[in-house]
Amino acid sequence: MDRERAAALRAAFGLAGQVALVTGAASGLGRASALALGAAGARVALDHLPGEEAAAEAACREIAALGGEAVALAADVSREQEVERLFAGTLERFGDLHILVNNAGLQRGAPFQDMTLAQWQKVIDVNLTGQFLCARAAVRHFLARGPQPAVSSALGKILCISSVHERIPWAFEANYAASKGGVSLLMQSLAQEFAPSRIRVNAIAPGAIRTPINRTAWDSPEALDRLLALIPYGRIGEPDEVAGTVLWLASDLSDYTTGATLFVDGGMALYPGFRGAG
Ligand code: BGC
Repeated sequence: MDRERAAALRAAFGLAGQVALVTGAASGLGRASALALGAAGARVALDHLPGEEAAAEAACREIAALGGEAVALAADVSREQEVERLFAGTLERFGDLHILVNNAGLQRGAPFQDMTLAQWQKVIDVNLTGQFLCARAAVRHFLARGPQPAVSSALGKILCISSVHERIPWAFEANYAASKGGVSLLMQSLAQEFAPSRIRVNAIAPGAIRTPINRTAWDSPEALDRLLALIPYGRIGEPDEVAGTVLWLASDLSDYTTGATLFVDGGMALYPGFRGAG
């Protein structure tokens, strides 16, 4: 991203004066979302795992080069005390929080009969319990802080990064699909619970996006061919395309949208096999 594009994003989405926290921000969708939010004027806390410091610091430097402000903070979102420290660190550095991007997630697939409890648990802990812990900390802060109409129409915004697999069953990834199905109803229940408080809660369901999590699905021509057969739009998605949706949902442009899931998937969730069949 260059400074000209950052200026355009600032003008379009107007996030100056807001603070965003993005979990799992050292790579993939989290990194792209953090860069976009920083470019659009938010001050950004980038959560990452211990050991990912270099990548997270590099993303912070990119945001600074665009004229933004960012800090990298290490925390495993599945651990309650680390999440508490993550939010305390964000507030210590930036004094407030307006936008949470619940992005941290992983896959640990296996044939179901071989799936260990540890594999099941790890995916549920990070993908679902992590979103619960971070959403709870964000809601507590939003309610305690109160409205700031000059900054944003909403009291706060929570974006849950889900997946097309909140809808599409996924053999050999039952733990992952179950976690994302859980994210979907966690998001909708929170949206219903907190709409009267003007906390907006929405989800993004990405399809196949070019990130490290699914490298084996796109980094050889044969794998890419198999993947493209599942995508009506005829190409893989790029992280910036998810980040663009993050910006819209984080800004006042989407102020009347809560409890929604936006599929960013080139049509993957549209049952493409039924085109001309059935
Ligand atoms: C998964 C990717 C996969 C995509 C489409 C995502 O949620 O993380 O590995 O390529 O869904 O199947």
